[in-house]
Amino acid sequence: MHILVLHGVNLNLFGRRDPTHYGTATLEDINRRLETLARELNVTMEAFQTNFEGAMVERVHRALDEDVNAVVINAGAWTHYSYAIADALAVLTVPKVEVHMSNVHAREAFRHESVLAKICAGSVCGFGIMSYELGFRAACALAAANIPQK
Ligand code: DQA
Repeated sequence: MHILVLHGVNLNLFGRRDPTHYGTATLEDINRRLETLARELNVTMEAFQTNFEGAMVERVHRALDEDVNAVVINAGAWTHYSYAIADALAVLTVPKVEVHMSNVHAREAFRHESVLAKICAGSVCGFGIMSYELGFRAACALAAANIPQK
Protein backbone atom coordinates (compact mmCIF):
# COMPACT_ATOMS: atom_id res chain seq x y z
CA MET A 1 0.00 0.00 0.00
CA HIS A 2 1.33 3.46 -0.94
CA ILE A 3 0.32 6.72 0.76
CA LEU A 4 0.88 10.16 -0.78
CA VAL A 5 1.45 12.90 1.80
CA LEU A 6 0.88 16.41 0.44
CA HIS A 7 2.09 19.53 2.24
CA GLY A 8 0.89 22.89 0.92
CA VAL A 9 1.86 26.50 1.00
CA ASN A 10 4.23 27.78 3.73
CA LEU A 11 4.51 24.39 5.39
CA ASN A 12 8.21 24.22 4.51
CA LEU A 13 8.53 26.85 7.28
CA PHE A 14 7.32 24.58 10.09
CA GLY A 15 9.87 24.91 12.90
CA ARG A 16 10.47 28.59 12.14
CA ARG A 17 6.85 29.73 12.04
CA ASP A 18 4.56 30.74 14.92
CA PRO A 19 5.51 27.99 17.43
CA THR A 20 2.41 28.69 19.55
CA HIS A 21 0.29 27.24 16.74
CA TYR A 22 2.71 24.94 14.97
CA GLY A 23 5.27 23.85 17.58
CA THR A 24 8.94 23.51 16.78
CA ALA A 25 9.04 20.39 14.60
CA THR A 26 10.29 20.97 11.06
CA LEU A 27 8.71 19.52 7.93
CA GLU A 28 11.65 17.08 7.79
CA ASP A 29 10.84 15.96 11.36
CA ILE A 30 7.21 15.38 10.34
CA ASN A 31 8.19 13.39 7.26
CA ARG A 32 10.67 11.31 9.29
CA ARG A 33 7.96 10.49 11.86
CA LEU A 34 5.59 9.46 9.05
CA GLU A 35 8.26 7.32 7.42
CA THR A 36 8.80 5.51 10.73
CA LEU A 37 5.03 5.03 11.06
CA ALA A 38 4.81 3.80 7.45
CA ARG A 39 7.44 1.12 8.18
CA GLU A 40 5.53 0.14 11.32
CA LEU A 41 2.30 -0.21 9.33
CA ASN A 42 4.08 -1.96 6.49
CA VAL A 43 3.16 0.63 3.84
CA THR A 44 5.23 2.95 1.68
CA MET A 45 4.87 6.72 1.42
CA GLU A 46 6.00 9.74 -0.53
CA ALA A 47 5.92 13.28 0.83
CA PHE A 48 5.59 16.30 -1.47
CA GLN A 49 5.62 20.00 -0.55
CA THR A 50 5.15 23.03 -2.76
CA ASN A 51 4.32 26.70 -2.41
CA PHE A 52 2.83 26.81 -5.92
CA GLU A 53 -0.85 26.00 -6.31
CA GLY A 54 -0.46 24.79 -9.91
CA ALA A 55 2.40 22.49 -8.89
CA MET A 56 0.16 20.96 -6.22
CA VAL A 57 -2.66 20.47 -8.76
CA GLU A 58 -0.19 18.80 -11.16
CA ARG A 59 1.15 16.53 -8.39
CA VAL A 60 -2.42 15.38 -7.73
CA HIS A 61 -2.94 14.80 -11.48
CA ARG A 62 0.18 12.60 -11.60
CA ALA A 63 -1.24 10.53 -8.75
CA LEU A 64 -4.09 9.51 -11.09
CA ASP A 65 -1.60 7.39 -13.03
CA GLU A 66 0.27 6.09 -10.00
CA ASP A 67 -0.38 3.30 -7.56
CA VAL A 68 -1.50 5.60 -4.74
CA ASN A 69 -3.92 4.03 -2.25
CA ALA A 70 -4.67 7.08 -0.09
CA VAL A 71 -3.76 10.74 0.32
CA VAL A 72 -3.01 12.70 3.48
CA ILE A 73 -3.12 16.44 2.84
CA ASN A 74 -2.31 19.54 4.84
CA ALA A 75 -3.00 22.22 2.25
CA GLY A 76 -2.10 25.10 4.60
CA ALA A 77 -4.00 28.28 3.72
CA TRP A 78 -5.17 26.73 0.41
CA THR A 79 -7.51 24.65 2.59
CA HIS A 80 -9.68 27.69 3.04
CA TYR A 81 -10.08 28.86 -0.57
CA SER A 82 -8.50 26.64 -3.25
CA TYR A 83 -11.31 25.22 -5.38
CA ALA A 84 -8.59 24.24 -7.88
CA ILE A 85 -6.97 21.84 -5.41
CA ALA A 86 -10.38 20.61 -4.23
CA ASP A 87 -11.42 19.90 -7.85
CA ALA A 88 -8.15 18.07 -8.59
CA LEU A 89 -8.44 15.92 -5.45
CA ALA A 90 -12.07 15.15 -6.25
CA VAL A 91 -10.95 13.26 -9.37
CA LEU A 92 -8.84 10.89 -7.25
CA THR A 93 -11.13 8.13 -6.01
CA VAL A 94 -8.81 6.95 -3.21
CA PRO A 95 -9.47 7.99 0.43
CA LYS A 96 -8.25 11.49 1.25
CA VAL A 97 -7.66 12.71 4.80
CA GLU A 98 -7.26 16.39 5.70
CA VAL A 99 -4.85 17.27 8.52
CA HIS A 100 -3.79 20.45 10.31
CA MET A 101 -1.20 20.95 13.03
CA SER A 102 -3.23 23.69 14.73
CA ASN A 103 -6.84 23.65 15.91
CA VAL A 104 -8.19 25.70 13.00
CA HIS A 105 -11.62 25.96 14.69
CA ALA A 106 -10.13 27.83 17.64
CA ARG A 107 -8.49 30.41 15.38
CA GLU A 108 -9.57 33.22 13.01
CA ALA A 109 -12.96 32.79 11.29
CA PHE A 110 -11.42 32.35 7.82
CA ARG A 111 -9.73 29.16 9.05
CA HIS A 112 -13.05 27.60 10.12
CA GLU A 113 -14.03 26.80 6.55
CA SER A 114 -12.36 24.06 4.52
CA VAL A 115 -13.18 23.80 0.81
CA LEU A 116 -11.45 20.39 0.91
CA ALA A 117 -13.66 18.92 3.64
CA LYS A 118 -16.41 17.83 1.23
CA ILE A 119 -14.05 15.67 -0.82
CA CYS A 120 -12.13 14.25 2.15
CA ALA A 121 -13.17 11.24 4.22
CA GLY A 122 -12.45 13.22 7.39
CA SER A 123 -10.09 15.62 9.05
CA VAL A 124 -7.76 15.77 12.05
CA CYS A 125 -6.62 19.07 13.53
CA GLY A 126 -5.14 20.54 16.67
CA PHE A 127 -2.72 17.79 17.70
CA GLY A 128 0.51 19.03 16.15
CA ILE A 129 2.55 16.24 14.55
CA MET A 130 0.07 13.78 16.01
CA SER A 131 -2.56 15.18 13.58
CA TYR A 132 -0.40 13.86 10.75
CA GLU A 133 0.15 10.50 12.48
CA LEU A 134 -3.55 10.02 13.22
CA GLY A 135 -4.49 11.15 9.70
CA PHE A 136 -1.93 8.74 8.23
CA ARG A 137 -3.30 5.84 10.28
CA ALA A 138 -6.85 6.73 9.18
CA ALA A 139 -5.79 6.90 5.53
CA CYS A 140 -4.17 3.44 5.76
CA ALA A 141 -7.21 1.96 7.51
CA LEU A 142 -9.61 3.43 4.95
CA ALA A 143 -7.49 2.23 2.03
CA ALA A 144 -7.28 -1.27 3.55
CA ALA A 145 -11.05 -1.34 4.08
CA ASN A 146 -11.57 -0.56 0.39
CA ILE A 147 -14.62 1.63 1.01
CA PRO A 148 -15.72 3.56 -2.11
CA GLN A 149 -14.83 7.26 -1.77
CA LYS A 150 -16.42 10.47 -2.96
C1 DQA B 1 -2.52 24.88 8.92
C2 DQA B 1 -3.69 25.78 9.28
C3 DQA B 1 -3.97 26.78 8.16
O1 DQA B 1 -5.05 27.64 8.53
C4 DQA B 1 -2.74 27.64 7.92
O2 DQA B 1 -2.98 28.53 6.84
C5 DQA B 1 -1.50 26.84 7.71
C6 DQA B 1 -1.27 25.66 8.55
C7 DQA B 1 -2.15 23.91 10.07
O3 DQA B 1 -1.43 22.95 9.81
O4 DQA B 1 -2.54 24.15 11.22
O5 DQA B 1 -0.64 27.20 6.92
O6 DQA B 1 -2.90 24.07 7.81
